[in-house]
Amino acid sequence: KRAAFVIACLLCMAAGPALAEEKVLLNGIDANYPPFAYVDQSGKPSGFDVDAVDWIAAKMGFKVKHVPVDWDGIIPNLLAKKIDFICSGMTITAERSEKVNFTAPYWEVKNVFVTKKDSALKAEEIYGKEVTVGMQAGTSEAKWMADEKEKQGWKFTIKLYDSAPMAIEDLVNGRLDAAAMNYPPARDAEKKRPVQIVGIFGEVEPFGAAVRKEDKELLDTLNKGFELLKADPYWEELIAKHLNK
Ligand code: ARG
Repeated sequence: KRAAFVIACLLCMAAGPALAEEKVLLNGIDANYPPFAYVDQSGKPSGFDVDAVDWIAAKMGFKVKHVPVDWDGIIPNLLAKKIDFICSGMTITAERSEKVNFTAPYWEVKNVFVTKKDSALKAEEIYGKEVTVGMQAGTSEAKWMADEKEKQGWKFTIKLYDSAPMAIEDLVNGRLDAAAMNYPPARDAEKKRPVQIVGIFGEVEPFGAAVRKEDKELLDTLNKGFELLKADPYWEELIAKHLNK
């Protein structure tokens, strides 16, 4: 019996690392957030974050799959272990850091107002007017806007959407006077839809990948991965491909 036990243990030890290699880590993405994460015409997850994670996975020796998850429920999904980490245009905030651990910042974004192409509304006029401004629910910019509106007594109405492109569509349809979002998705919209960026607001926000608090090893792996990626020529390639257009 004892020999059988020892043999079983040895088999487990031999199989252990092989099994670990087979494991596919799931990256939760908001697939409606170009240029960071979206699905292309063929239904394939794409974008800056998707490419970055794929490179890191190959370099650090793990398999990864990008799983679209509703943005509003993305952290609950991580905590419920439906996904293993989140690398999908997420701002590192104090509030989120109480629930998850973030990697070091890998990118920084500004926040901007967007209006319809023919609109004369200026960014600085928005605060004091009875206009309607759309933004994605559960974002740091929506929180900033609601907090500041309360503090400053701003007059505009906030309308929340499940995704940034949905706010852009209502802007195009004339149901919104302005939309507010991070610069890169706004720039993406400006290239595809009859809308224009009219000014900046709020704070510069650092993006990080998020893991469950107990997953220290994965956090180290992702941090190391980003460090290696940023030192590799592929990093500049990725920026040119997704962010500098
Ligand atoms: N600054 C925003 C935040 O982290 C961006 C999120 C918008 N959506 C997204 N899929 N990343 O709250």
